[in-house]
Amino acid sequence: MIFDFPVDFIGEGMAKIVVPNLSAFKRGPWDYAPSKAPVFYNPLMKPCRDIAVLVLQSYGEYSHRDLRVSEPLTGCGVRGIRFAKEVKGVNSVYLNDVSERAYRMAKYNVQLNDLEGKVFVSNEDANLFLSRHAALSQRFDFIDIDPFGSPAPYIDSAIRALRDGGMLALTATDLASLCGIYPKAALRKYGGLSLKTEYAREIAVRLLAGCLASIAAKHNIGVKILFSHVTKHCVRLYALIEYGARKADRSLDNMGFLIHCPKCFYREAVRDILPLNVSLRCPECSSPLKAAGPLWLREIVNKDFCAVIEKNMEIIKHVNNEIAKLISVIREEAEAPITYYVIDKICEKIKAPTPPIKEVINNIRDMGFKAFRTHFHNRGIKTDAPPSIVTEAIKRAVKCGIYNRKLTL
Ligand SMILES: C[S@@+](CC[C@H](N)C(=O)[O-])C[C@H]1O[C@@H](n2cnc3c(N)ncnc32)[C@H](O)[C@@H]1O
Ligand SMILES: [Zn+2]
Repeated sequence: MIFDFPVDFIGEGMAKIVVPNLSAFKRGPWDYAPSKAPVFYNPLMKPCRDIAVLVLQSYGEYSHRDLRVSEPLTGCGVRGIRFAKEVKGVNSVYLNDVSERAYRMAKYNVQLNDLEGKVFVSNEDANLFLSRHAALSQRFDFIDIDPFGSPAPYIDSAIRALRDGGMLALTATDLASLCGIYPKAALRKYGGLSLKTEYAREIAVRLLAGCLASIAAKHNIGVKILFSHVTKHCVRLYALIEYGARKADRSLDNMGFLIHCPKCFYREAVRDILPLNVSLRCPECSSPLKAAGPLWLREIVNKDFCAVIEKNMEIIKHVNNEIAKLISVIREEAEAPITYYVIDKICEKIKAPTPPIKEVINNIRDMGFKAFRTHFHNRGIKTDAPPSIVTEAIKRAVKCGIYNRKLTL
């Protein structure tokens, strides 16, 4: 065996792969072994890779093209190998990693899966690799950037290496920056500010999408977000890349700010460019407002594309129920209003017990507003109702719960 560290043979999806024996690199139950091992493999990210397989399959059908695919930060190669084995219409996959050990492991795994001639592996810096593929004839249809932390340093070269109509998939695991805990890091990496609010996970997607749109615009390229999700500690974004200065202008029209009142939960999306230090007052309670942005304010999931993903779930059998449920919630919320309320936060403020979310949603709908669950938070509600209505819906649900409990006593 060519590896100078303990390894395991495992299966993931339709791929059989060699990965580091993670338990050999764990110093105790508290330790996070994937980051300690000489080559990166994280079994917990399998659902995320399952979704990537589904999205790539769906993108192939949506775009009617045979696919030239790339994964410039591949680790042990599992993701790209799964693309080659599981997605119909994939012609070639180009894997790359700057680590020599990862390169050797990915190459070994390509052979193990009989994919020589279809999957190619290289060993250089991702930006160098992508720049080598910036010439027209070398570009890709799909690039998956799955780094440690932020994908921001790779976005520019990935855009240059994509064909017109190509798709860029981005992973960001630096949720602390994207969710408002480290504002300076967010400004540095994404050119904008997030906010520590109950809907910070949605802001994270919109900040990343906004960063992508403004980098693409410099190349006269527009973007359209077809799918996104935030699962565990990872933001995923799938964006269509469309050449043309007008497309770039149109995509910049989707940028703006979210203003938020931490006191009464009022929030509003504004398209104008706001100076971030402006002192704005809440129209509901006159408290000082906070602002996040610039953000992508338009759709972050396309309902039609989601329907294609759902159809493909029936074909790719090893995708489990948890993913099916996630995709179904995401499809439902595709056309829902921007941001969401977390009912626990409101209950904490009004000092009420937390009622069942289903009841609150029904009450909001009964009062004539839209209301949806959201995959961002299991106690979250997306609605066009103002905070006063959401609060009223919660109070009614609490009252009804107390009444029903009395009846059963
Ligand atoms: C999160 S891991 C990739 C995991 C993989 N995509 C998967 O699905 O299992 C990030 C990888 O990026 C590689 N890497 C870090 N900096 C790089 C760079 N500048 N160029 C290329 N690869 C890099 C690391 O060696 C590591 O294998
Ligand atoms: Zn307010």
